[in-house]
Amino acid sequence: MTQLLESPLSPPRHDKPRPRPAPREEYRSFGNMESRNGLQERVEIPLLLRALRLPRGGRVLEVGCGRGIALPVLSERLAPAELVGVDIDPSLIKAARLRAERTHINATLHVADVRELPFADGEFDLVIDFGTCYHVSGGEKGQLSALREIGRVLRVGGLFVHETRVAQLLAHPIRSFGRRLPWKRVSTLETERGAVLWIARRRR
Ligand SMILES: C[S@@+](CC[C@H](N)C(=O)[O-])C[C@H]1O[C@@H](n2cnc3c(N)ncnc32)[C@H](O)[C@@H]1O
Repeated sequence: MTQLLESPLSPPRHDKPRPRPAPREEYRSFGNMESRNGLQERVEIPLLLRALRLPRGGRVLEVGCGRGIALPVLSERLAPAELVGVDIDPSLIKAARLRAERTHINATLHVADVRELPFADGEFDLVIDFGTCYHVSGGEKGQLSALREIGRVLRVGGLFVHETRVAQLLAHPIRSFGRRLPWKRVSTLETERGAVLWIARRRR
């Protein structure tokens, strides 16, 4: 009908592309907040390690390690046999490598997607996530791939430690509202213990 009303010489009706809202399912970066980094480094992570009594000396992976704020604390407090960090953003991995160098810790850092981890089955004793799985691209499907991959790279009996919804809501109230992880569809990771802001799940 519209076509019939337009003469061949008339300009196209929609010559200006309309701005599209960003799809909610795509990952958006959080930006760098030095004050929050300091709080995480000095308060949040030491509390987490103590509250959940995380084992020392294992092979540890942090997914979505960002600028590597947590790595020196994890290295110092857990004395891991191996410490690995992955993030999808190459510029953040570059910053994390600089931080690891500056703080003289032994950490291996990879640009990688948590939904497709470049590790063998059962390669880690402990996987830690400070909020990444809540916000990965792909909505529930993306979250499910991430959780299944984490379950795959954990050895049987290994632990996955992640923030609860309460922690997410306190840190990012608007962005995290209504976000939950699809635990009912991940049978390999069983809740072991929780401490209000964090949960440790055991790989079955
Ligand atoms: C909530 S931030 C946490 C950053 C850091 N761990 C911290 O606590 O400050 C989420 C991080 O996950 C990364 N990320 C987002 N999607 C990812 C994906 N699919 N795979 C790996 N990392 C991802 C982001 O680049 C970002 O660094």
